Amino acid sequence: MDIFDKCDAIVREVKRAQDLGIYPYFTPIQSAQDHRVTIHGREFIMIGSNGYLGLAADPRMKEAAIKAVEKYGVTCSGSRFLNGTLDIHVQLENDLADFYEMGGAIVFSTGFQTNLGIIAALGGKDDVLVIDRLDHASIIDGCRLSFSDVKKYKHNDMEDLERILKTIPENRGKMIIVDGVFSMEGDMANLPEIVRLKKKYNARLLVDDAHGVGVHGENGRGTCEHFGVLEDVDIIMGTFSKAFASLGGFMVGEKDVITHVKHRARALIFSASMVPASVASAQMALNIIKSEPERRKRLWAITERVLTRLKEVGLDTGDSQTPVIPVIIGKDEDCFAFWKMLIANGIFANPVISPATPPGRALIRTSYMATHTDEDIETVLDAFTACGREFGLVKT
Ligand SMILES: Cc1ncc(COP(=O)(O)O)c(C=O)c1O
Repeated sequence: MDIFDKCDAIVREVKRAQDLGIYPYFTPIQSAQDHRVTIHGREFIMIGSNGYLGLAADPRMKEAAIKAVEKYGVTCSGSRFLNGTLDIHVQLENDLADFYEMGGAIVFSTGFQTNLGIIAALGGKDDVLVIDRLDHASIIDGCRLSFSDVKKYKHNDMEDLERILKTIPENRGKMIIVDGVFSMEGDMANLPEIVRLKKKYNARLLVDDAHGVGVHGENGRGTCEHFGVLEDVDIIMGTFSKAFASLGGFMVGEKDVITHVKHRARALIFSASMVPASVASAQMALNIIKSEPERRKRLWAITERVLTRLKEVGLDTGDSQTPVIPVIIGKDEDCFAFWKMLIANGIFANPVISPATPPGRALIRTSYMATHTDEDIETVLDAFTACGREFGLVKT
């Protein structure tokens, strides 16, 4: 048997979807990731990006990146541990620690690596990691890389979380790891209750706030700030690839924990550091997050409007309370057909099927940016209403 034999199945599946004109992945975009993008020379309204604050094409972000390239070049050619730490990495870490009022921070080259690095560095063989069944893939993989036992609780089910915590002996280290905002359906973790349980059972808590930072909370410090539990959370991780419109990830927490992760996280030590352009644009985004709350305000106004209208016409938006708004379609084939119809209407959204969703719950994932115009949003809402009608998902 050839180890490559398994490739045939996916090759056939991809070809079939391409022949039917319903292959939605790896689409080359020919412009910046703003509220409108160019694909195959045609303009589309982008509701498939995680650039919540609309900073990808902001002139200040570009200028910061260009200046960093001029000063530091294009790469560090090495890991943070050895030759790859620049003064701007340290500056960004200090500013993040101050922003969260935490003991320290460390930045990684991607958000995915941040989770791999933290979880594998902290999860030892005597420990138990307790995760939500719908946590992000980087958390699942981080758990796989750790030597800990891993227990999954039913999605957002606090009784199930408590049932699991109860069974863990006191002499084992415990950490609950949860997404602040769940990335596919835009629902939020019940952080107040999770904090209560972590205290009751003497566990630590790591919140992955990839979709929360810059978006939630009065000062943009994410879901922990939104719920008023910043001081009760042990570690927050975030990514620079979403609201920050850059690339990289970070962790904030107690100083000693940061020192441990810095010296034990293989995803940090054995991988090249964030490139200068990304560091400088992340730093600029942090400044903008702090100084321009009106961007968050605009984003939330758009979110309210979309959620209200989609619900009014009868579309199922799950439990979303955030700028990530799913439209639940059901069957995979219908989801791809719905996606194709949106494309025909000049709208770029993301079809999401199992295993990223439970089977039979295929959905169109939409997400919004502060830079979307009222006209963009009206066009999107009209298109969803018209397409939803074709699929019998809209009230008549
Ligand atoms: C919840 C969550 N955590 C982590 C990541 C990984 O972040 P990055 O894209 O920076 O690698 C993502 C990105 O998809 C995410 O949605």
